[in-house]
Amino acid sequence: MKKVVVHSPGTVANLVCGFDILGLALSEPYDIMEVTLIDEPKVTIQNLDTFNLPVEPEKNVAGVVLISVMEKLNNQFGFDVRIEKHIKPGSGIGSSAASAAGAAVAANQLLGNIFSKAEMVQFAMNGEKLASGVKHADNIAPCIYGGISLIRSIHPLDIISIPAPELFVTVVHPQIEVRTSDARQILKQQVPLKDAIRQWGNIAGLVIGFLKNDFDLIGRSLEDVIIEPVRSILIPGFDELKSSCKEAGALGGGISGSGPSVFMLSKTYETALAVAAVMNNIYYRLGIDKNTYVTNINPLGVSIQSK
Ligand code: HSE
Repeated sequence: MKKVVVHSPGTVANLVCGFDILGLALSEPYDIMEVTLIDEPKVTIQNLDTFNLPVEPEKNVAGVVLISVMEKLNNQFGFDVRIEKHIKPGSGIGSSAASAAGAAVAANQLLGNIFSKAEMVQFAMNGEKLASGVKHADNIAPCIYGGISLIRSIHPLDIISIPAPELFVTVVHPQIEVRTSDARQILKQQVPLKDAIRQWGNIAGLVIGFLKNDFDLIGRSLEDVIIEPVRSILIPGFDELKSSCKEAGALGGGISGSGPSVFMLSKTYETALAVAAVMNNIYYRLGIDKNTYVTNINPLGVSIQSK
């Protein structure tokens, strides 16, 4: 029997100003998935963690991705999956995307690398649809491509990898759950033109900042006048967190994906550690449990550990 083990990383979607179109892969945390190719056309799932996610394949993010792969190839085989999640569901750091992208990459490896990265993103988006009700690729794309991704369009799929300087990422995950579907439902459907102008100025600035290693431009462009004012009310201490992290030296940051995690980018590891201390102090004072990660941008995305 053919078997593969993959590490599938967390991701930060939106990168503040780029709702649904920008995302980056993290080195930590990551899920571990062991996928075996089997003769029977079915998917079986075993969870090796305590999150109690569904094991019925059609209700499980990895399951629906593998079903879509099987259907594409006329149901000639199936998959056994063992998942050890370390990225908590509802954290805002791409938990569902990690399961979906990990499943797609593992299946592709087992089938002899027959799919392109873009095709794997297409399969994996079925998992995002199940998790959040919408196909968006700003977690899936960086999870599969690594680094920073721009999703210029999903119909048709057009993904561009953005070169960037080395950056350190601090993420704090206050232990409250925000469902992406809920965090999408509260958004306004109309955007005033003046806000749109400011937002696309920031997106262009952020992308050019990455390309030119211009840290000040990156910092100035990490501003969101459309989504953050609505969603930040779901995150305790958000305004204080943001201003205190910048005082500690962070270039900038904001809500990670749909929250409740908050991320900050820093130029050095030392600053990223100082930012983590600030985050920890604020949540300690607020009496809210949290997990904090100090990590960097993962250039590879999902990685094959063993075959
Ligand atoms: N772009 C998506 C959102 C990411 O913000 O709803 C969800 O992780």
